[in-house]
Amino acid sequence: MSLDDIKSFSKENMAFDPTGHDFLHAQRVAKLAQKIYTEDFKKDETDIGLYVVKAASYLHDTIDEKVTADKKNRLREVRIILSHENIATPAREDILDIIQHMSYSDNIEHHYQLSNEGKCVQDADRLDALGAIGIARAFAYGGHAGQEIYDPKISVKEIKTHDDYRHHKSTTINHFYEKLLKLASSMNTRMGKQEASRRTKYMRDFLSEFQMETGVKDET
Ligand code: ADP
Ligand code: NI
Repeated sequence: MSLDDIKSFSKENMAFDPTGHDFLHAQRVAKLAQKIYTEDFKKDETDIGLYVVKAASYLHDTIDEKVTADKKNRLREVRIILSHENIATPAREDILDIIQHMSYSDNIEHHYQLSNEGKCVQDADRLDALGAIGIARAFAYGGHAGQEIYDPKISVKEIKTHDDYRHHKSTTINHFYEKLLKLASSMNTRMGKQEASRRTKYMRDFLSEFQMETGVKDET
């Protein structure tokens, strides 16, 4: 249960990603998810639970379509890596379940019920979309996607479907209102909620400052 192979696989496949889904993102998620797990699930915490949290954190974006052009094959590779780990089948299945069902976009139309370990990884991933790092990642993603910083002519859209989220023309400032400011109310854990609220306040301050400097209307 050393995680070395899993970390190497993650590092290899997320070495450089200009959309904010790089290996440092995986490392931050792993660190934060562990902290949430030991804090929020103290009484149920187990060594294998902690292993699941770390493994799922490192692997969660390796199968993301933004990171791989061949999700099916990447998932096959993840299964092989996991089959070589000395863990029981339920833990292996849980890691696979978490990484396939935790994403924001997959939970817009359905609400997948994750294990406690999955809830921690999902919260940590969402926290990394918030605060100073969240702001940086949003603009990195926007630049890479060829999206404008802001455009007074493009209005904020209410996101109801996976398709709305993935395919409508947005701006990075609108993305804050369409998704990022809503994350705090969808957190699973006590620590996740608390930290999301702190980071969201910081983003609201950023948006007020942005509004003052640019004159772009604050939508909240
Ligand atoms: P998930 O993988 O959970 O479905 P995404 O990959 O869509 O979530 O989002 C991960 C991060 O990428 C977001 O939190 C945000 O920082 C950035 N991102 C995604 N879509 C956009 C967008 N349209 N504009 C700016 N940033 C975005
Ligand atoms: Ni992620």
